[in-house]
Amino acid sequence: MRQIDFELTTYCNARCAFCNRTNDPALKLEHMDWNIIENIPIERFSHLMLLGNRGDAQMYPKLFDLIKHFERNSKAVVTIHTNGSYRSKEWWSELAKIHRYYKANKTIFALDGFEDTHSLYRKGTDYNKVIENIDSYIKSGGNAWVQTLIFKHNEHQIDEMKRMLKEIGITKIWIRQSRSYNDELQRPELMMNKTRHEQSYDKKRVPISCIHQSGDVYIRVDGEVRPCCFMGDEKYKQEFIEFMKRDLSCLKYIIEYCKNPRSINLKYHTFDEVMDSVYFKAIKKDYKKIYQCNLKCRVRFDEIVKEERM
Ligand SMILES: C[S@@+](CC[C@H](N)C(=O)[O-])C[C@H]1O[C@@H](n2cnc3c(N)ncnc32)[C@H](O)[C@@H]1O
Ligand code: SF4
Ligand code: SF4
Repeated sequence: MRQIDFELTTYCNARCAFCNRTNDPALKLEHMDWNIIENIPIERFSHLMLLGNRGDAQMYPKLFDLIKHFERNSKAVVTIHTNGSYRSKEWWSELAKIHRYYKANKTIFALDGFEDTHSLYRKGTDYNKVIENIDSYIKSGGNAWVQTLIFKHNEHQIDEMKRMLKEIGITKIWIRQSRSYNDELQRPELMMNKTRHEQSYDKKRVPISCIHQSGDVYIRVDGEVRPCCFMGDEKYKQEFIEFMKRDLSCLKYIIEYCKNPRSINLKYHTFDEVMDSVYFKAIKKDYKKIYQCNLKCRVRFDEIVKEERM
């Protein structure tokens, strides 16, 4: 399946401790320009994900227009990822009415426990408001899943959560490890598997599985295209450029890229020009040598994720 991961905005109402945006003093607050949206050939993709690394789709001022644009111009399934704690219940009801045009379209709400635990990680969000908004979205015909990050402080609540979520009409719960743990946000006993980070460079495990090789892309808020969310942040582009400088077989790519860093930006180029750029040629050729690719994509997904239909 070919999918686009959109970073629609860098605005968010929450301050989740391990989120890329939370402690980034250089974070520039912006929304994706509509001109960028119009330059994306959405008709070629089967899944459009409103996810991103540094923001929340509910903050995007033109979200309703965007969903209508997707419905008019593509056959792709649309998934929205959100903390669900901003906007009124009326807004969520309206969103459901616009979004429910395919049964497979869904919104994945982040819910990490109950009133006493949810906001320990999802700081700045309100458990009761999330539940109210989920309820409103479902009652207006929306298909809602829940994603739960599991910590020591909420692992004992999972069974009770499943019962409650089933009752309110959630169709799937997706239980995931946190990408990090610390003294305050501790590792659960229930899931002692290594995190993705801890599995890195364990060469005996599995080969690198690259979603970009099958056509997936990540589009940043500023219009830059990257192969995936793992390469989404500025430091990973710099890291890749440094890598290319050291590898003689890549030198010609990097010299060309440095002449035109805008070559991967949809503000200045068409999607096909971007895919044909030296940056993407180099990624396709050498991703297996890149540190970030080894760190993020040499893992077995079934070891780190649990999904349950309700
Ligand atoms: C930056 S968020 C953007 C989407 C939306 N704001 C949200 O939180 O669902 C991207 C994804 O990272 C997930 N995420 C946040 N903190 C995480 C953590 N510590 N470990 C794993 N995933 C995390 C979010 O739940 C979401 O699925
Ligand atoms: S809700 Fe999403 S974007 Fe916002 S701080 Fe949490 S993980 Fe980051
Ligand atoms: S991190 Fe590397 S291997 Fe993984 S999806 Fe991205 S480009 Fe592909």
